Amino acid sequence: MARYLITSAIPYINGIKHLGNLVGSQLPADLHARYLRGRGHEVLFLCATDEHGTPAELAAARAGKPVAEYCAEMHAVQARLSEGFRLSFDHFGRSSSPQNHRLTQHFALRLAEAGLIREVVERQMYSVADGRFLPDRYIEGTCPNCGFDGARGDQCDNCTKQLDPTDLINPRSAVSGSTDLELRETRHLYLRQSAMRARLAEWIDSKADWPVLTTSIARKWLNDGEGLQDRGITRDLDWGVPVQFAGAPWTGMEGKVFYVWFDAPIEYIACAQEWVAAGKGGDWERWWRTDRGAGDVTYVQFMGKDNVPFHTLSFPSTIIGSGEPWKLVDFIKSFNYLNYDGGQFSTSRGRGVFMDQALAILPADYWRWWLLSHAPENSDAEFTWENFQASVNKDLADVLGNLVSRVTKFCRAKFGEAVPAGGAWGGREAALAVDLGARVRAYEAQMDAIEVRKAAAELRAIWVAGNEYLQAAAPWSVVKSDPAVAAAQVRVALNLIRLYAVLSRPFLPDAAEAMMAALGCTDWAWPADVGAALAVLPAGHPFVTPEVLFRKITDEERADWQARFAGRR
Ligand code: MF3
Ligand code: ZN
Repeated sequence: MARYLITSAIPYINGIKHLGNLVGSQLPADLHARYLRGRGHEVLFLCATDEHGTPAELAAARAGKPVAEYCAEMHAVQARLSEGFRLSFDHFGRSSSPQNHRLTQHFALRLAEAGLIREVVERQMYSVADGRFLPDRYIEGTCPNCGFDGARGDQCDNCTKQLDPTDLINPRSAVSGSTDLELRETRHLYLRQSAMRARLAEWIDSKADWPVLTTSIARKWLNDGEGLQDRGITRDLDWGVPVQFAGAPWTGMEGKVFYVWFDAPIEYIACAQEWVAAGKGGDWERWWRTDRGAGDVTYVQFMGKDNVPFHTLSFPSTIIGSGEPWKLVDFIKSFNYLNYDGGQFSTSRGRGVFMDQALAILPADYWRWWLLSHAPENSDAEFTWENFQASVNKDLADVLGNLVSRVTKFCRAKFGEAVPAGGAWGGREAALAVDLGARVRAYEAQMDAIEVRKAAAELRAIWVAGNEYLQAAAPWSVVKSDPAVAAAQVRVALNLIRLYAVLSRPFLPDAAEAMMAALGCTDWAWPADVGAALAVLPAGHPFVTPEVLFRKITDEERADWQARFAGRR
């Protein structure tokens, strides 16, 4: 048994996430956590809401609420939706927690002691009408790169170029719309990432097994232009972790907070402390401190590609720069984007399916299966309703669901609701065990490598192999001439259902539970030997014939949903 620390990029607090966000980090992280638990490993799976920064302040202002109140409410909403999707976090924390405040200030102090922080006087946009500086998203204007009118101070959402607030053409305040702006001097802390360049490059180069998507983005940032830039880690904002605190070596930083991208990844650690504070665990240090046992932990992070620079360069700079024995990430799994029906998901235009809407129309497993089996790993992927309908109807209803209902119903009709005794295995059963044995090892290999799509394809092939067995064995004809042989076939087929529940659980937790409940079985042991696994349920073991596991999506529903989620122009 090994130990795995798993974190998903922590979602911004401002609003409900869409399916593209979900499949870009939280859902594949959950798949991996569930798989490793299923294999008997010890897992700590953490996520949280990312509550600081301009997105939170602006969303709270739009909602007409104090930002702390807004964040508390939205955290509860996101926590409920996470449960709805069966995201099995050991703790779902908050980056605004006291633990994260303390730890963020601690890291800043250590970095200062290591000489990695410098103070910079710079000119920032100031809104006279609003009486405040306008960092990041507080300022909007025309993108100097593509001419898009709604570009924000930190990034253009149209062409994705990273921007500086002073780059915008015709800038205006996002709070008031005022264009009465001027440049004013303000003092900030910069993290001297450039001083860490060689160490970071060496560290990235040592990760030969990382996905190309991850390392190529990291290398681009390490080598582009003059190389890795120092980064401002403070902002003129109210909401966040205060920069001026007892013991801070700098002065005059009152009224400033740390930049959201400085404190958010630190929440990965603070979240483990919150997990302990919530009474769910006894010791966070054995997961995070290599001097306290975390040396044997394998740490895996999940995120969308836009998050990669922060996880390969910025956060490691914080960790390494602190000079303390914190656990560094071992593997970074990153994802491309999921598009929606010929375009992009759009929060502002209500285009695409959001987490709450998805659960209102179908149970979590339907979404989990489609999203994971189409995860945007090697390129961007696209959600279409046709593809969703086809996947659900074929993979889930026709293949997996059909096997379960056919076997249980046939057994009930011919032998009653208990595993039939019957004869011994024939050649077909032995061959099935050999075939499935090889397939299960292939599935494990893809799951171990976090190749999500390939793992889904192996799992589907395992379901198909069972259907083919049943079709060829045809107990419904054999029973007429040789009931003992038919009984042996049904016994194997009932055990197949249990095997499928165990193997499918990381993808389809609710269906797996329903299958095991119908079988009256609680033995979730991962199949070391498939032959033995196909004999776990003994003759005489009672079961109940389950409800339909997966229903089909009709053409009318598909058309209705397509129209409903198309978004406003
Ligand atoms: N909130 C960010 C996003 O949704 C992710 C933050 S990940 C962390 O893109 F590392 F900062 F925690
Ligand atoms: Zn642009």
